[in-house]
Amino acid sequence: MQPRQQPLPAPGPGGPRPLTPPLALLLLLALRGAGAAPAGSWEPEDSGWVQDAEFPSRLLQQAARAALHFLNFRVGSPSALRVLSSVQEGRAWVNSKKESQVDLVFTTERYHPEEGEEEPLSKCSARVIFKNEKPRPAINVTCTRFMEKSERQQADYLLYKHMKQLKNPLDVGSIPDSYGHIDPSLRPMWDLAFLGSSYVMWEKTTQFLHYYMVQLSGVKQWKTDDNAIDFDYTVLLHEFSTQEIIPCRIHLVWYPGKPLKVKYHCQGLQAPEEASGTEEGSAVAPTELSNF
Ligand SMILES: *[C@@H]1O[C@H](CO)[C@@H](O)[C@H](O)[C@H]1NC(C)=O
Repeated sequence: MQPRQQPLPAPGPGGPRPLTPPLALLLLLALRGAGAAPAGSWEPEDSGWVQDAEFPSRLLQQAARAALHFLNFRVGSPSALRVLSSVQEGRAWVNSKKESQVDLVFTTERYHPEEGEEEPLSKCSARVIFKNEKPRPAINVTCTRFMEKSERQQADYLLYKHMKQLKNPLDVGSIPDSYGHIDPSLRPMWDLAFLGSSYVMWEKTTQFLHYYMVQLSGVKQWKTDDNAIDFDYTVLLHEFSTQEIIPCRIHLVWYPGKPLKVKYHCQGLQAPEEASGTEEGSAVAPTELSNF
């Protein structure tokens, strides 16, 4: 696939555009998140969406965070993780099923800014659909590139080599430690864990709930035939509005440049449509996105 960055299509009307492969893939893959999206419903007006003139600004933040979790997971690169910088603009619609659709533009910055360097922001536009109070919002998102592909590949490869040479079992205790400190040598492990957690956090996000990864523990690494990093760990996710702390056991398989595979099992989540207190899920990011 060609490594060129594609310009952002503006959400909404704009007539048919030829889709280049990376973008076409991105949209297509986002469909998996969209569930049963009615055909041809890109325009809100077509499907009973009514503009919501009085949506809370919180909704835009929430949509941006969901889009970022999704993006981090899909890009699948622990060295290219991003966080929200600011939301620049947005609009919202509601429909008769009380679903909210949000179109927004936001900027992101690197998760770990390099010290003393000026960090370029990357601009993203996204459409996020929250399905009433259900988790796993449907998301389409595109961003400008903020890091050269070769730079990202190299950083991923270094991280991979670092992880491969670690002795097993990994006797690292909790990260951060009880003083809130993350030893720099454990940063790659944290980043890889964050990558897997991004998937879980996207899946758990609703219009009202959002999660932060606050602690990593119980890390185990397994040998694989194909030399991938096969990694088990427990994260504590903090849900912001309820202040709930949810332990999730995550299993991920990662090889630089290959699709990330994630499986997880979280305890104590209040799933409205499920009687049990546990939730599980799994996913494979189907292919690398070459435009990030
Ligand atoms: C994402 O894009 C695809 C293709 O245009 C569309 O069918 C789908 O409904 C979109 N999903 C969202 C959440 O906008």
